[in-house]
Amino acid sequence: MPILEVKNLSVAFTQYTTGFKQKSHQVISDLNVTLEAGKILAVVGASGSGKSLLAHAILGVLPTNAKVSGSMTYVGEELTHARKIALRGKEIALVPQSVNYLDPLMKVGKQVRTSVRTGDPKEAQKNVFERYHLKPEVEGMYPFELSGGMARRTLLSTAIVSGAKVIIADEPTPGLDPTVMKEALGNFRELADSGCAVMLITHDIDSALSIADEIAVFYAGTTVEIAPVTDFTGKGEALRHPYSKALWRALPQNDFIPIKGSQPHSSALPPGCLFEPRCPWATSDCRKGRPEMRELRDGTVRCIHAT
Ligand SMILES: Nc1ncnc2c1ncn2[C@@H]1O[C@H](COP(=O)(O)OP(=O)(O)OP(=O)(O)O)[C@@H](O)[C@H]1O
Ligand code: SF4
Ligand SMILES: [Mg+2]
Repeated sequence: MPILEVKNLSVAFTQYTTGFKQKSHQVISDLNVTLEAGKILAVVGASGSGKSLLAHAILGVLPTNAKVSGSMTYVGEELTHARKIALRGKEIALVPQSVNYLDPLMKVGKQVRTSVRTGDPKEAQKNVFERYHLKPEVEGMYPFELSGGMARRTLLSTAIVSGAKVIIADEPTPGLDPTVMKEALGNFRELADSGCAVMLITHDIDSALSIADEIAVFYAGTTVEIAPVTDFTGKGEALRHPYSKALWRALPQNDFIPIKGSQPHSSALPPGCLFEPRCPWATSDCRKGRPEMRELRDGTVRCIHAT
């Protein structure tokens, strides 16, 4: 059974335009992801494709002007807002994208110790700091005294000691030196191997490929493909969606071919398939409606022409 399931998630923000007029921007549409024990799902996609919003929706920390629909379950039971609050930091932990999530008024050692659920908090904090090469004196520092990399390692430490069953890591590695980055990625793999479900949001497809089991490709606020990592190979022949293929081929170590055009803004989404304006396979049928996510080979894809 999946630990966490997100079904048909949609998120819209209401914004005021001129005068008292309101406009709704759909930033996430009909998004589905499943997290399983022992598995790492990496989430990749362009900036603004909705990756952080998905993480925030799972944790129940979206801003109050967000209108949310769809359903989520945690170990088979509905994940209501009250349950999200109860499980946050205990069974479901977030490594946030921004280091501003650290409490500016609390020494960082204490911040990490308060996340420890079982065993000796002091011991757990000492061990995790050692693991991430944070010197003993760091525990007595406030967030403003840390470098960006140290702050990031503190956030990682908080999630690692929490003992959570689900870890959502939102771009956890930028600014880390290669050794610490490798260590952090290795820790996520260890956590998964010990039975956690991990969702790793990253711009770095190479890192994702080195540790993940599956990759979800996001585009304009939805999943366009979920594929096993082994499909990211060669010229992307095994991939299902034209955007995933293009994203793969755009990498410097592949063909380094940029994808023409840009991701649509939430205020001007195309009426049919969200990728249609840029898609080399597009036909008139693609403009008739949003393709559903469907199973294809060992993965899922949102494209009517994918084979
Ligand atoms: N509070 C908000 N009000 C209105 N729009 C928002 C709000 N927060 C996010 N958005 C919009 O939602 C979209 C998705 O944002 P999100 O932060 O999830 O992107 P992302 O995929 O995490 O990008 P990045 O890779 O840059 O971190 C963006 O277009 C963003 O401008
Ligand atoms: S549904 Fe059509 S436009 Fe959309 S990705 Fe598939 S072929 Fe391209
Ligand atoms: Mg983000």
